[in-house]
Amino acid sequence: MKILGITLDANSSACAMIEGQLVAAISEERFNKVKNYVGYPRKAVEYCLEALGGTVDKVLLPSIEMDPLLVLTHWTRRDVEQRMREQNEYWYPKIYEDKDLNYLRVFPETADFEQYPGPHFWNQIDFGAPKEIRIKQFQGLRKQLVADHLGIELEQIEFKAHHLCHSSYAYYGSPVRNEPALSFTADGFGDYWCASLRLFDGKGKSTLLMQTDEALLGRLYRFTTLNLKMKPLEDEYKVMGLAPYATEYHWRKPYEIFRKLLEVEGVQIKLKEKPKDFFFHYKKKLESCRFDAVAGGLQKFLEEIVVEWVQNAIEETGVRNIVFSGGVSMNVKAMMEVSKIPQLKTLHVPPSGADESLCIGAAYHESSLIMPHTSIKPVNNAYLGKGYSQAEIDAFIAANNLGAKYKIVEDVSSDVIADMLDKNAVIGIFFGKMEFGARALGACGLG
Ligand SMILES: [Fe+2]
Repeated sequence: MKILGITLDANSSACAMIEGQLVAAISEERFNKVKNYVGYPRKAVEYCLEALGGTVDKVLLPSIEMDPLLVLTHWTRRDVEQRMREQNEYWYPKIYEDKDLNYLRVFPETADFEQYPGPHFWNQIDFGAPKEIRIKQFQGLRKQLVADHLGIELEQIEFKAHHLCHSSYAYYGSPVRNEPALSFTADGFGDYWCASLRLFDGKGKSTLLMQTDEALLGRLYRFTTLNLKMKPLEDEYKVMGLAPYATEYHWRKPYEIFRKLLEVEGVQIKLKEKPKDFFFHYKKKLESCRFDAVAGGLQKFLEEIVVEWVQNAIEETGVRNIVFSGGVSMNVKAMMEVSKIPQLKTLHVPPSGADESLCIGAAYHESSLIMPHTSIKPVNNAYLGKGYSQAEIDAFIAANNLGAKYKIVEDVSSDVIADMLDKNAVIGIFFGKMEFGARALGACGLG
């Protein structure tokens, strides 16, 4: 079975899977140079189709309830200034003044009707209609878009639920197979949920233990990132990196503010108080807090909730293998705290667990329906993207006269790279296939 997965979401991506083996995965941003691109990942799809030998048996689309407005306006592209305007001119009047606003009337310049496959496609959606209606319209059109692009039948294309994809990626991306594992997911939101817990029994079956729309950890992190004047859905890792600069004397106050939001009860995460929104509410509450203290308090809160959640689940189920995915799994420091839980046996967090890997989760889940779970291969490494031959590299260097501007070293070892970094050299590395994921710096990067 040859499967193609397509994420049309934040960081649109595609993957190719053959008989349970992931053979390619790449984000559209690698082709069009638009970071975190939201739009149909045409080139990524074509690259993955090539990896399948040009034909596909099944295409899977994660997220059933995708709002086409997010795609039309390339929602991840907005910078901090635009995001602030969006909060002040759209969300504030809507939430706090009960005004009935149409996003495209407030920000008509954000609509990109020219994007692939063109205005004839996007004009079929009534963007003035309520969200539920345009989502329904987009469901049928998304399938048609893929069918037209690949020249396949609509029957070959299926949707997969957002958190089922995250959960399947966490489990099948890990090497755990013959023992039970608990699969945790947590993110900003996807198909109306923001966290789930699924038990994989080690015999090929899984049971959903909880799914909630209340564990708003990802959402809180996203809007606090904006409150710190950084770019949501992209700069959260900078907030995480900022956190250790605050001492407890400083982070204690924001931590107490965040702590009022959620509580963990057994394997459930519940809202203690529901703020009217996640931007203005916390902006006011955190007014007198230093920026690094906000980052410190937020990180501390996130780590506590996640650790308590995992700990309780281990205690309730007796299962000690943990796998984790969704945007919150990108918080490596929280994952490190999870790894320290004494009762835990193994922890696996597959690479780039935000929405770019939904396509892989969808392909894994489909594979689990048609083959023994033990035959499904984990993600051994993330070198799944486009590679270039030495001849192509040589031709590019010659055509751009790079030899005149840079010192080019071939077959360089990691020791030599470490030595160069130690001497404060600025280096670029380029070898093998591109690494999949939002934080990919392994094979092609600058240091
Ligand atoms: Fe997600």
